[in-house]
Amino acid sequence: MLRIAVLVSGGGTNLQAIIDKIASGDITDTEIAGVISNNENAYALTRAKKAGIPAMVVSPKNFENREVFNRALLDAVDSLNVDLIVLAGFLVVIPEIMIDAYTNKIINIHPSLIPSFCGTGYYGLKVHEAALSRGVKLVGATVHFVDKGTDTGPIIMQKAVEVKNGDTPEVLQRRVMEQAEWVIMPAAIDKIAHGKVKVTDGIAIVED
Ligand code: GRF
Repeated sequence: MLRIAVLVSGGGTNLQAIIDKIASGDITDTEIAGVISNNENAYALTRAKKAGIPAMVVSPKNFENREVFNRALLDAVDSLNVDLIVLAGFLVVIPEIMIDAYTNKIINIHPSLIPSFCGTGYYGLKVHEAALSRGVKLVGATVHFVDKGTDTGPIIMQKAVEVKNGDTPEVLQRRVMEQAEWVIMPAAIDKIAHGKVKVTDGIAIVED
C-alpha cells in the first residue's frame, strides 16, 4: 500500500480527483494518510474532512521564521509516515531539507507542458495568460518529480489540451484541469503505487 501525503493551498480540485479515483478503484493500493495545508482557509481542508482524511494546517504565519516553518512542515510530513508526497496546488517553495529527505518521492502537478511556461513566476493563472499571449494552440499539464529547481525535476506524465478561439485565462485553466490535471495526477500516483516509475540519470521511465 502506497501511503501518500497531499499538500494543498487552495480549492483542492486535484485532491478531490485523487480522493474520487481511489474511491472508484482507478487508483489502487494507495491510501491518503493526510492532507497538509499552509492556508487555514483552503477549501481543500473541507474536502479532506468530508472524505474522513486527517488534515492539518502548517502556516508560515505561525512560525518565527522560514527555517522554523520549514522544519515544522518536514516534521508534519514525517509524522504521516508516507512513501510519496503529492503537491496538489501547493504554493509554498519546498524546503531543501524536505527534498533531501524525499528525493524522487515528491511529485507536483504543473499546468503547462514543461518546458514551456514553467519556472519562476509561472503559477496559477499566470501560466494560462502567458500561453494565450504567445498564441500557442496546444497547452496541457505535467506531473513531475520535485528537485531543487523550479519545475525542473524528471517528467512523469504529460497531457496536451487544445486552446480554443475566445479562451480567457480562466476558461483555459478550467479546461486544462478537467482534461489534463485531474487525469494525469491520479494516473501518475497509480503508476508509482505499482512500482512502474523509475528514475535513471534524471529521466523518469514509466512502464505501461
Ligand atoms: C492547479 O492549476 C495546479 O496545476 C496549480 O494550482 C492549481 C491547484 O488547483 N499548481 P486545486 O487546488 O487542485 O483546485
